[in-house]
Amino acid sequence: MSPVSDNRYAVFGNPVAHSKSPRIHQMFAEQLGVDIDYQAIEAPVNGFDDAIRSFRDTGGKGCNITVPFKQQAWALADTKSGRAELAGAVNTLRFETDGSVFGENTDGIGLLRDLTLNLDTKIFDQRILVIGAGGAVRGILGPLIEQAPKKLVVANRTVEKAVELAKLFSTIGPIEPSGFEQLAGQKFDIVINGTAASLSGEVPPIPEDCFADGALAYDLMYADEPTPFMQWATARGAAKVADGLGMLVEQAAESFSLWFGKRPDTSVVIAAL
Ligand code: ATR
Repeated sequence: MSPVSDNRYAVFGNPVAHSKSPRIHQMFAEQLGVDIDYQAIEAPVNGFDDAIRSFRDTGGKGCNITVPFKQQAWALADTKSGRAELAGAVNTLRFETDGSVFGENTDGIGLLRDLTLNLDTKIFDQRILVIGAGGAVRGILGPLIEQAPKKLVVANRTVEKAVELAKLFSTIGPIEPSGFEQLAGQKFDIVINGTAASLSGEVPPIPEDCFADGALAYDLMYADEPTPFMQWATARGAAKVADGLGMLVEQAAESFSLWFGKRPDTSVVIAAL
């Protein structure tokens, strides 16, 4: 067997077999001349903490966390960035030499970089609709509000959860919580689908005429084909559609620099994928 790198990293999720993260981090490592051993590890739904501890105890240095463990990772981290603290969800862990675990959330900054740099979409003064109020959405709200959009509406099937998030983030900026019916008559420049509806081939029941001229519809999920939400949005007049692949690569680059202190070039990796 060939020698394994001491730089052991992984992504934990369930399911996780189809994750593109191992490939992305391998490409980053090659680009920057770093040696890495990055695996996708499926943790049992009720065994997340044990899986992380066992990975750390056998030489793991850090990891990414995906569905459904981001909130559990937040609880497990001993220290967190302010951004991760507020989000209540963590997608990156770094195991420190003193035995403590540091937690960060790079999802929001990953989305911002994808929107502004890769998709040339500004957020300042724009009308933004975020659909969903779960773990995925928690990670992106802080960085979005910091860009001072004209308005940021969070619409969720269970309205109470949107109300809760609006309260939670009120120290950074205003969020309008909403149900789906209340969206009638409103137009948005950017519509971000952060619900798990796409997983079951569904589209959240938002009004069909919610897209302003030139609007971007963005799905946090990624797939080999346009997602149901992207197809739905195209058919209803969204000028541009994108899935979350660019965000995945950008959040990975942020994690990579947290671990190695070096930032990879993402554009070549996005092109390769
Ligand atoms: P994740 O970590 O992927 O965000 P989550 O925390 O379970 O997963 O959140 C799932 C989100 O998708 C929630 O906002 C959920 O709405 P509820 O809070 O009302 O449950 C939303 N969601 C899931 N399936 C949906 C569907 N078919 N239509 C609309 N929203 C849906």
